[in-house]
Amino acid sequence: MKLKLPRLGVRKTSKGESGARDAADSLVDVEPVKPLVSPERLRLSIIRGDSRLLESYALYEPWAYAYIAEDLKTGTISYIVYEVGLTPQEESVYKSIVDYIMWELEPPKVPVEDVREYIARFAKRAIRLFQLKLGRTPGLSWSKIGYYIERDVVGYGPIDPLMRDPNVEDISCNGPGVPVYVWHRRYEYVPTSVVFRTPQELDEFVVKLAHLAGKHISVAYPVLDAILPGGHRVAATFQTEVSTRGSTFTIRKFREDPITIVDLINYGTISSEIAAYFWLAMDYKMTTLVLGVTGSGKTSTLNALANLLRPTYKIVTIEDTPELRLPQENWVQLTGRPSYLVSGVSEIKLYDLVKVSLRYRPDVIIVGEVRGEEAYVLFQAIATGHSGITTLHAEDIDAAVKRLTSPPMNIPESYIPLVNMALVIKRVTRLDEFGRPRPARRITTVWEIEDHGKYREVASWDPLRDRFGVDLRKSLIVERIAKMKGVSVSELVDDIVKRKAVLEYLAATGRRSYREIASYVYNYYYRPGEVLKEIGFEER
Ligand SMILES: Nc1ncnc2c1ncn2[C@@H]1O[C@H](COP(=O)(O)OP(=O)(O)OP(=O)(O)O)[C@@H](O)[C@H]1O
Ligand SMILES: [Mg+2]
Repeated sequence: MKLKLPRLGVRKTSKGESGARDAADSLVDVEPVKPLVSPERLRLSIIRGDSRLLESYALYEPWAYAYIAEDLKTGTISYIVYEVGLTPQEESVYKSIVDYIMWELEPPKVPVEDVREYIARFAKRAIRLFQLKLGRTPGLSWSKIGYYIERDVVGYGPIDPLMRDPNVEDISCNGPGVPVYVWHRRYEYVPTSVVFRTPQELDEFVVKLAHLAGKHISVAYPVLDAILPGGHRVAATFQTEVSTRGSTFTIRKFREDPITIVDLINYGTISSEIAAYFWLAMDYKMTTLVLGVTGSGKTSTLNALANLLRPTYKIVTIEDTPELRLPQENWVQLTGRPSYLVSGVSEIKLYDLVKVSLRYRPDVIIVGEVRGEEAYVLFQAIATGHSGITTLHAEDIDAAVKRLTSPPMNIPESYIPLVNMALVIKRVTRLDEFGRPRPARRITTVWEIEDHGKYREVASWDPLRDRFGVDLRKSLIVERIAKMKGVSVSELVDDIVKRKAVLEYLAATGRRSYREIASYVYNYYYRPGEVLKEIGFEER
């Protein structure tokens, strides 16, 4: 952990309308931002002994940094974004380049796949042009100007540094004049030093987010639910139409590289034995419910499990916003479409997509999350021999079944046993090696469904010892698969032990990407002997 504050003494810019303001500078006078609002205040409060720096790291070397500090009196943690400010000379060049881009950028003559890339290329050319025009410019950093242009023209403006932080999962803004919050992997929700100072500034930003997502937000249509370039999910409201404090937004950052079953083992979210059991269940298309509250990790778990399905299965996924990423080629990804009052475009609901998915003759239908009438169609599909995997907002199996069997889902109780298993993922708090509480995720219970109201707990997490208990002798799934395969239960348990060894080998050797895992998992399906030989597995 670095304890020094680099570049805190860097010259600040004059305030302007450029949009490339020094974020730290622009925030100093904002109230109520507690407890710390700028690197300068942070430095002073550290000197005074009011705060301590927990860590600092680069977000975009050498122009943007994150400082995370704890107020020693209140224990509050703050996230300070520090960007090296533009000098007045740099700011004037920056403004000229931005003006040039705005005036000179023409729509592409031929359709381009990535408009942002097109603009970014144009911006680079514009910078080069100004470099040539201005000739020798000692004391002026073109790379810094380039950073601000990229940030403001094709990036996310003031929240761009937060978007670059891999520790940040969510970014949310509850209105103008209050700090933007982030959900940080190590500190949970923390206020940041980024603030949209005026309603106009925030409104404009929300409109920009909508445009980046290729959507529209306005007084007439004040709600946005869309996907930003790079797959980030954004929800936003406009002005005071539906949110009393003014425009709001929340961004769930998309990981380029999805969380895999090996990550779940490495993070301690599950044990390798439970992971092997899930692998077997996926191999045999067991219908599964992933339960949890908002942001607990349901979609990530669903994705990690779906990655284990046999590549020969036809998979159709149905989501509101495309979050899932699978390595299987025989995969159709369907996403719903909101209606637009302004353009008269009709809404395509999950319900419509589940219905249409049956025409694709899927082996497995995966619904990102069931909330309404789509659940009913999904259960009808399951009743007619398809396999289904979905997530549901619920704390445990009883609550889940209650939701499923009540309006608007209205699943008949007799359909509940069609679900083979359910698991719940939770955000929990663990102590790190220094005894400090840290957020973590655990799959706390795995149930198998015998009948409506009859659930067998086959695995559970012990919070005291941070250990998982698994009892496969209780497993109906293992029994059923053994029958299907025509092998004994103990032979199948041996198979789970082998799969566990494969997963442990992947975890131990750092093979964690979804593509690497797919190659081992698929190989194991066709040539288990070869894989076991490679990992040095010895039969007992
Ligand atoms: N096991 C895990 N360990 C660490 N981080 C995780 C884990 N699972 C998910 N995450 C992270 O938590 C965030 C939320 O995950 P995810 O989108 O899967 O949750 P969710 O329950 O589907 O949320 P929502 O209710 O909004 O749909 C993501 O940034 C993801 O990277
Ligand atoms: Mg989700």
